[in-house]
Amino acid sequence: MNAARGAEAGAVARTAVPTAEVATAGRMRELGARLAELLRPGDLVVLSGPLGAGKTVLAQGIAAGLGVRETVTSPTFVIARVYLDGRIPLVHVDAYRLGGAAEADDLDLDADAESSVTVVEWGAGLVEGLAQDHLEIVVARPTAVESGETRTVRLHAYGPSWTDRLRAFSTATP
Ligand SMILES: Nc1ncnc2c1ncn2[C@@H]1O[C@H](COP(=O)(O)OP(=O)(O)OP(=O)(O)O)[C@@H](O)[C@H]1O
Ligand SMILES: [Mg+2]
Repeated sequence: MNAARGAEAGAVARTAVPTAEVATAGRMRELGARLAELLRPGDLVVLSGPLGAGKTVLAQGIAAGLGVRETVTSPTFVIARVYLDGRIPLVHVDAYRLGGAAEADDLDLDADAESSVTVVEWGAGLVEGLAQDHLEIVVARPTAVESGETRTVRLHAYGPSWTDRLRAFSTATP
């Protein structure tokens, strides 16, 4: 995400940022599954963070929490995959290879956005137009060696609906 994109997204007020320290990939899946309980049709979740941060692992947890039984894999080569067997249809997108907002528009994600949950890796600055409110989840790999494989996950609520939902959400991971 470049600075200009971040600034654009920041135009919508955001308040407290719940943060989780996530020690393992399994815990990341559990966090995703708990987040899935908050999800409703029409929701947009943007996953940010560097290569290998754990965005797809988090998306796998979200999918599992929605009741998707199929294995969620990285959709890099197909850009987007739709999973229909959960509580709400899930559209999982990897925007890494998209050249910009025009190419994101070409995916016609808005055709399904109202009835589905849309989870987009590398989507910051590209897909916020799909939903007025959205959740951006930033996954970071701390650089300190002693942090091991722990990831820091920050939940950024954009708009009142996500602000309300996150207020009641505990980021504590056992
Ligand atoms: N605490 C952790 N949380 C999440 N993943 C972890 C953790 N520790 C180790 N891993 C491993 O890190 C890798 C994360 O890969 P993943 O494909 O989810 O990253 P990504 O952010 O989607 O990368 P990309 O930008 O290439 O799509 C996995 O192999 C996972 O097992
Ligand atoms: Mg990925």
